[in-house]
Amino acid sequence: MKVTIVGAGNVGATCADVISYRGIASEVVLLDIREGFAEGKAMDISQCATNTGFNTKVSGVTNDYSKTAGSDVVVITSGIPRKPGMTREELIGINAGIVKSVADNVLQHSPDALIVVVSNPMDTMTYLTLKATGLPKNRIIGMGGALDSSRFKYYLSKALDKPSNDVSAMVIGGHGDTTMIPLTRLASYNGIPVSEFLSSEQLAKVAADTMVGGATLTGLLGTSAWYAPGASVAYLVDSILNDQKKMIACSVFLEGEYGQSDICIGVPCIIGKNGIEQILDINLDENEKALFAKSADAVRNMNQDLKS
Ligand code: NAI
Repeated sequence: MKVTIVGAGNVGATCADVISYRGIASEVVLLDIREGFAEGKAMDISQCATNTGFNTKVSGVTNDYSKTAGSDVVVITSGIPRKPGMTREELIGINAGIVKSVADNVLQHSPDALIVVVSNPMDTMTYLTLKATGLPKNRIIGMGGALDSSRFKYYLSKALDKPSNDVSAMVIGGHGDTTMIPLTRLASYNGIPVSEFLSSEQLAKVAADTMVGGATLTGLLGTSAWYAPGASVAYLVDSILNDQKKMIACSVFLEGEYGQSDICIGVPCIIGKNGIEQILDINLDENEKALFAKSADAVRNMNQDLKS
């Protein structure tokens, strides 16, 4: 199974690293516009093989899409971060141009690939990719909920003082610090609702910490995070390539689900070899429904900037 990752920066290279050492794919191609950069990252990752014990073939190319031919999954992490003085519209315009040309290029060589969109603003970039390529909705998957959910589980595990792997929880809605919705009501520790262990004040703090989870890391690191984002993409790719049918919150095109249409936003999905195999319409309470509608309004508002 072959995976191409466009953008060999922090998130793309970390994703390639995790996919390789976990043996999720037999081949990974990193592609970047920076001359020699993807080649260097691929070489560095490949030189881990004997110490971490993997056989995945990892290569890097500068803008040569012919080397990506026959990919089963293409991950798009190319884009630029917002720079001082840059408006949101300008950022969206630049990243939309990058994402659209990347999607066109990869599909010329891998017409059957599933596309995982990571570049921010991710929900808007996922929507753009769907509209620009005209591909069926199951083949365009926005990655954000997997990361936000893992951060939610991290903060829950800290509050509970229990291992994250025993915590089950999900974040839906937009992938932004004011649009995401940590579903505290449905979070559990070994099957028991976390509300049995944590007060409503503690749960509110966990939700608030989750929502600024990315910003907290940017404040500490001086740039946005990459270990958890890269691992979250690899987790999603694993479920696709190995047809694991995991339930993962992904940004997906909605056609009436959760009362929304013509928008890509995070909802629980079954992820397998066909990409988005099912959208799960879970029962939200009135408060969660209202938060979801508000989140969708914000994402839709951002999508408007694609047209300006
Ligand atoms: P980065 O700056 O380290 O890497 C981006 C890479 O894309 C650079 O190496 C750059 O040369 C490359 N690039 C730019 N234009 C390109 C093009 N046309 N073709 C090929 N490569 C191109 O950035 P980082 O930290 O890896 O983040 C990547 C993107 O992912 C950003 O948009 C970031 O906001 C987003 N992100 C999304 C997350 C999510 O949960 N959806 C989480 C973390 C980051």
